Amino acid sequence: MGEITPITDHFGRALKDLRISVIDQCNLRCTYCMPKEIFGDDYAFLPESELLSFEEITRLAQTFASLGVNKIRLTGGEPLMRKNLHELIQELTKIDGIDDIALTTNAFFLPRDAQNLKDAGLERVNISLDAIEDEVFKEINGRGVVTLPVLKGIDAALDAGLQVKVNMVVKKGMNESQILPMAQYFKDKDVILRYIEFMDVGNHNGWDFDNVVSKQEIIDTIHAEMPLEEAEPNYYGEVANRFQYKDGIGEIGVISSVTDSFCGTCTRMRLSADGKLYTCLFASKGFDIRKKLRDGLTSDELTEELTSLWGQRTDRYSEERGKHGNPNREKIEMSYIGG
Ligand code: GTP
Ligand code: 5AD
Ligand code: SF4
Ligand code: SF4
Repeated sequence: MGEITPITDHFGRALKDLRISVIDQCNLRCTYCMPKEIFGDDYAFLPESELLSFEEITRLAQTFASLGVNKIRLTGGEPLMRKNLHELIQELTKIDGIDDIALTTNAFFLPRDAQNLKDAGLERVNISLDAIEDEVFKEINGRGVVTLPVLKGIDAALDAGLQVKVNMVVKKGMNESQILPMAQYFKDKDVILRYIEFMDVGNHNGWDFDNVVSKQEIIDTIHAEMPLEEAEPNYYGEVANRFQYKDGIGEIGVISSVTDSFCGTCTRMRLSADGKLYTCLFASKGFDIRKKLRDGLTSDELTEELTSLWGQRTDRYSEERGKHGNPNREKIEMSYIGG
């Protein structure tokens, strides 16, 4: 096993997770993420030559692992639109120190890919689904698609032996009607449903504090019908707060970046598909590591660059965000960095 030298940022936060976006494209156009008006026919997605190769990603992941990263998440856009993703997973599972590899997906391609991914070493998937009623889901995803393909994707993942969580972004006026139906639907399935407060990521989703349904409101809505009790985190810095049903069957999570932020335990580095490193989901600027890789930097130089980038990190956007977000700040898009 290679040497691991853990590093910390300006506030003493360790570097533990690497979220890797493998492609900036998606087959859906969720209104809060890739609104059709912006991400329409003319949108300039990254050309293939600009994407990091699997070799480049693997090299970065190896170096990050040597600095204490033990958890990798693959995201997009929609990561299953990247060709042969299972080959990348195969390489990542070989890295010393990486003990958790997960994928965030909209599940459309899981009937095709789930078994392949599992065989390559993937353990778990987080699947986005914001409504259980077709009429509501059709409005949200911008493509008028019903929930069936997503439910089939969930089944395919479970059948392949993958652990499944479902992510539901809750936005007022969009899907608060679905909070309880989603809880009822998933309660006795082998799936953890997580509610996500609508965040002001990107520049185009028209975020407003008034559209946020708070963690407390979400819990109250469910608790009134199906009593809940708080549960301990599964690991340090878990983004979701966990709640178990008092009858002992099932659990939910709530991710409250807006009303109860968690920057103090944020151990996440993010890598975009074109090789920029971001020390916060709400960062404006990334650090171009692809250029350095392609210019031939040595292993020691790479380690130094990553250590220095993390060492200077002072981000804590969600703690600083006012009620009105930060309208003057140019932010990266969710579909570009993958959440
Ligand atoms: P687990 O490893 O299963 O706990 O997954 P996760 O919740 O870390 O990842 P996932 O991709 O499922 O993300 C769920 C939601 O949490 C998404 O809306 C993310 O944008 C949000 N999220 C994850 N990490 C952060 C973070 O560091 N800051 C903020 N503000 N939101 C985050
Ligand atoms: N606020 C909160 N969550 C979001 N996601 C995408 N955009 C937003 C937003 N504005 C979610 C997706 C996916 C996860 C990676 O991030 O639905 O589940
Ligand atoms: Fe695609 Fe996920 Fe964004 Fe929806 S939220 S457009 S599924 S990347
Ligand atoms: Fe981490 Fe930035 Fe999210 Fe805070 S807002 S938890 S620093 S990514």
